[in-house]
Amino acid sequence: MREELAALFAEFTYGPLTLANRFVMSPMTRQFSPGGVPGDDVAAYYTRRAMAKVGLIITEGVGVDHRSSIGHGSMSEENIPMLHGDAALAGWRRVVDSVHRAGGKIIPQLWHMGELRREGTPPHPGAKSMHANDMNETEIADVIAAFVRSAANAKAVGFDGVALHGGHGYLIDSFLWAGTNVRDDAYGGDILRRTRFATELVQAIRAEVGPDFPILFRISQWKLQDYEAKLAETPEDLAVIVEALEGAGVDIFDVSTRVFSLPAFAGSEMGLSGWVKKLSGKPTMTVGGIGFDKELAASFAQPTAAIDNLGKVALRFESGEFDLVALGRALLMDPAWVLKAQAGAPFEPFDITAYGRLD
Ligand SMILES: Cc1cc2nc3c(=O)[nH]c(=O)nc-3n(C[C@H](O)[C@H](O)[C@H](O)COP(=O)(O)O)c2cc1C
Repeated sequence: MREELAALFAEFTYGPLTLANRFVMSPMTRQFSPGGVPGDDVAAYYTRRAMAKVGLIITEGVGVDHRSSIGHGSMSEENIPMLHGDAALAGWRRVVDSVHRAGGKIIPQLWHMGELRREGTPPHPGAKSMHANDMNETEIADVIAAFVRSAANAKAVGFDGVALHGGHGYLIDSFLWAGTNVRDDAYGGDILRRTRFATELVQAIRAEVGPDFPILFRISQWKLQDYEAKLAETPEDLAVIVEALEGAGVDIFDVSTRVFSLPAFAGSEMGLSGWVKKLSGKPTMTVGGIGFDKELAASFAQPTAAIDNLGKVALRFESGEFDLVALGRALLMDPAWVLKAQAGAPFEPFDITAYGRLD
């Protein structure tokens, strides 16, 4: 056991959620669920991580119960799971039970691609894609109802909470960001009004699932449409968003950065998860570049090395910037990454072919 990491192996408790340690599997789209139904291979994939001391698993993005929630976006996304219909729910129940038997916890990431879904793509090629700018109130209400149904299904099949994909330029984020929301009604205008869709969504889910079912919310400055984008130019703007979301019922913020250690605003070394924690008063999770010398996008194009940068993670953790540490590629490439970190054993080399496998 590496002493400098001891604090990261301490239990985490927030309300009804108790995790064995601070390491979380970050949501990663896998495309191994034909017809939207996760099978035994998906259950085995997540269970391997739960057995190897991953404290919490956040699943791949799961399409909510709305016709245009998923389709082809930045890639040819096929075989993305859903969280409605008897077969998909039975499949998820097997996944959840298996992870629980291994001593882990698991939460689905609910996903609506919004304008990043390409028009005319399956599973519902006839469905119109949703753009924040031109959705009418009926369409807004329909999408919120879809999220609520999927969240209720998550609770019914035994998940330990729900996570909302509120980042990366997808539907929820496209309301938050001025670059995609130029509405002049109650859902657009200033930053508080741009947050209204997200807060109504969180409130509606909270009303459905009750007080004891954790709601996680992924937030990001960067967008797939623009890596340099900023949701909030200043801490004051960020405060408006996260205070509203906290008030609506968010329990934990999943703060999606591409490099966890980059300062979020000029004049301070603090990363974005630190700011969100300070401004919302809620636990946060950091992510981005842990275990590698290149961030995700760069790793597609440039030689990438596995490194041990956990000392830096531990220092920021101890300074109170975040409560949880999410790992994306590290856990994709090596289910036993957390065990190796704990033992100080060498990590496997970077392997881009893992993106296409479910092992
Ligand atoms: C194959 C792959 C699929 C991903 N899919 C999602 C997703 O469905 N939802 C999401 O919020 N982030 C997704 N991400 C981003 C990861 O959750 C994570 O934020 C990112 O990989 C940075 O962490 P890392 O540097 O530890 O890999 C994906 C990343 C990868 C590598």
